[in-house]
Amino acid sequence: MPDTNRPTGTHHRPSILVTGAAGNLGREVVDLLRTHGALVRRLVRHPTGPCSGTGTVVGDLTDPAVLRAALPGVDAVLLIWPLLDTAPAHDVVAELAAAAPRVAYVSSTAVDDQATRQSDPIVQVHADMEALLLDAGLRPAVLRSDTLSSNARGWAAQLRAGNVIAGPDVARTAVVDERDVAAAAAAVLLAPDRARPNPGPYVLTGPEVLGRADQVARLGAALGRRLSFRPLPADLARSRMLADGRPERLVEALLAASVDRPESHRITDHVERLTGRPARTFARWAVDHAAEFG
Ligand SMILES: NC(=O)c1ccc[n+]([C@@H]2O[C@H](COP(=O)([O-])OP(=O)(O)OC[C@H]3O[C@@H](n4cnc5c(N)ncnc54)[C@H](OP(=O)(O)O)[C@@H]3O)[C@@H](O)[C@H]2O)c1
Repeated sequence: MPDTNRPTGTHHRPSILVTGAAGNLGREVVDLLRTHGALVRRLVRHPTGPCSGTGTVVGDLTDPAVLRAALPGVDAVLLIWPLLDTAPAHDVVAELAAAAPRVAYVSSTAVDDQATRQSDPIVQVHADMEALLLDAGLRPAVLRSDTLSSNARGWAAQLRAGNVIAGPDVARTAVVDERDVAAAAAAVLLAPDRARPNPGPYVLTGPEVLGRADQVARLGAALGRRLSFRPLPADLARSRMLADGRPERLVEALLAASVDRPESHRITDHVERLTGRPARTFARWAVDHAAEFG
């Protein structure tokens, strides 16, 4: 197991490109990599946020020219693919293959290696991205993540209005703290040649299997409020998400995930194996982020 608390070498500071660097996961990865002495290049869509002392590349991830500009001198890349379409990924992956950095890809625990088609469009994208990266010869470190705890930030507006969270229900899974996924990603990105030979996907889960109602109850305990979850039927969930301005294709993908993605009781020790620390509970996340819901 790599020790990410160790200074990252005296003669070579690894240079690491983080895509989705302004997102919930990406922000944590950037902070951790900087803490460990890496030179971090952030790829963001909008020129906001801290850029001190390091490179920030502004542009769209789907534009191969943006990747081409961002990759020179980079040792490793954290790749996310937050889109429902993998067509633009072919040129992006070709850029990666030409530059040949180590690549860590953030995928989903819901990917089923035995299935010819995945449960829903979001999981299908992850399976297709994994295959694309493998086929390009990149031998990516695949980090299959369970549902991130930080998705709960999406409840903040409802919590300002009352004590009920309403939304599409999802099957129970071992929700994982984004800080743990970030630490796992940092371990993989910082470890020299860790991805060779390809060790197979890491499956990053939290320590307990939770449904939405369980998460809402734990958040309520952290906030000192009696919160409850109200599952919405698909039609109502659809109209609310559309009214919130979400793109129709994303809404349909989220509803498909809510209906078709199976429950998973899988809990792994991969976070601990990669980071040296056990995965945090959602209750811990709720306490640590309670101020955001004030
Ligand atoms: N959330 C989960 O439960 C979960 C579970 C398994 C895997 N994953 C994977 O992990 C990734 C990160 O999750 P997250 O929760 O951190 O997501 P997030 O907070 O939504 O962050 C995604 C980031 O990607 C950026 N982005 C979106 N489209 C882009 C584009 N075309 N070009 C450049 N940047 C773009 C967004 O930019 P803006 O800030 O400008 O919007 C955002 O900062 C997801 O995209 C998903 O593929 C997530």
